[in-house]
Amino acid sequence: MKTYLARLPQDFMSLIDAAGALASARNETAYLVGGFVRDLILGGRNFDLDIVVEGDGIAFSHEYARRLQGRVTSHHRFGTATVYLAHHLKVDIATARKETYPQPAHLPVVQPGSLRDDLFRRDFTVNAMALQISGSESGRLIDFFGGRKDLEDGILRVLHPVSFIDDPTRILRGIRFEQRFGFIFERHTLGLLRSALRQSMLERVEPQRLRDEVILLLKEDSPRKAIRRVAALAGLSFISPKLRPDPDMMRTLAQIERRIPWFQAHASCARPIEKWLVYFMGLVGGLSVPDIHAVCRRFVFRKADEKRIVSCVEVCNKAVAALAKKDLRRSEAFHILDPLSYEVIILMLSRTDRKLVLGRIMEFLKFTSGTKISVSGHDLGACGLKPGPHYQRILKTVLSAKLDGRAPDKSSELRLARQLAREEMNRKGQQHASSRTRQTGD
Ligand code: CTP
Repeated sequence: MKTYLARLPQDFMSLIDAAGALASARNETAYLVGGFVRDLILGGRNFDLDIVVEGDGIAFSHEYARRLQGRVTSHHRFGTATVYLAHHLKVDIATARKETYPQPAHLPVVQPGSLRDDLFRRDFTVNAMALQISGSESGRLIDFFGGRKDLEDGILRVLHPVSFIDDPTRILRGIRFEQRFGFIFERHTLGLLRSALRQSMLERVEPQRLRDEVILLLKEDSPRKAIRRVAALAGLSFISPKLRPDPDMMRTLAQIERRIPWFQAHASCARPIEKWLVYFMGLVGGLSVPDIHAVCRRFVFRKADEKRIVSCVEVCNKAVAALAKKDLRRSEAFHILDPLSYEVIILMLSRTDRKLVLGRIMEFLKFTSGTKISVSGHDLGACGLKPGPHYQRILKTVLSAKLDGRAPDKSSELRLARQLAREEMNRKGQQHASSRTRQTGD
């Protein structure tokens, strides 16, 4: 395993070496565990350092943070801590522990245990290996349950028969790994998974935990395949009783998968988008608005996300219809699309095949999105126009003129802004005069 460690970037190795040295100084033994070890063997990259200490993980993490000038948050109940370091690096540290599940699908009760206990409480053999990083046996791979062989064979195997009952989120985790690595469930494991589903175990998990798993699934590179697999094995009713994997939904998800890379490659103002949110909107987009609200409330989504998810359904169809109008000016398309989030726009791209609409959205994303004008309220004030809501109207008219090619440069923008300001002042003057006339009764 030393050779695997040698592949790691130097700053990472120094974090591991520091943990190893600290464990030795404290007469404890430290191990890298979980997905980090799995990905190290697979040759992939995983920057989530996960360390288990046979000893006192919390005291270890405080000393570790002190040595590396980091910050700690700890959960005494679970014997876990996270150390936050410079450059957004973080290290999870835990006391080796044993878990018991007093109630299926609920959080476990934790007590200190051996490394073997700690590995045995885990989801799949491939995630239950440890790599010692302290002492004379540093670099030794500890593999009690045949994880390395399963990794080589591409097999997901649980460690004990009640794994999915104790923690049904492992059903979704398993599907996520199956799709991500192209692995298959070992036959007995698949039987246990199906049996847990027959007992409606997913429905018994706290909804926030399910939400987090669904989001992780949607953050994978190809969530469509994972959703298809979840739908085939578990159905989608654990998200909403009304949710069915119908062809429309599957088509939308396939389109999203095509549109996101297009967006990332071509959109001129592309900021990072929340991919999972687009897929989630694609998933629930066929439900009625009250049903979508119900899903969001049950999953305790952030208010802002709930608003975005619901508005997408309301806005998406309306905006598509508005963009389908013949003879739409470029500025009109801009004003339809500009207030929408990129996530909603990608969803629109995915839910229509109308060439005209697609062309207009693509033009917006490639060329006009983010267009700014050079004139500002300051220029309107300089003409003598008093501030008010008309400022926004005038600036929007100038922006439209720019988009439609009628104000191609700064001086023509300024000319138009001044003309509009004068017209506004004249209108105001007339209004003023007519209201005076009304008051005096002339
Ligand atoms: N784990 C588990 N059961 C769960 C969640 C996690 O047994 N429901 C264990 C697994 O051993 C896992 C480790 O905790 O490897 C760390 O969990 P996490 O960071 O969520 O998973 P990773 O395996 O690192 O997966 P990913 O690559 O998606 O981050």
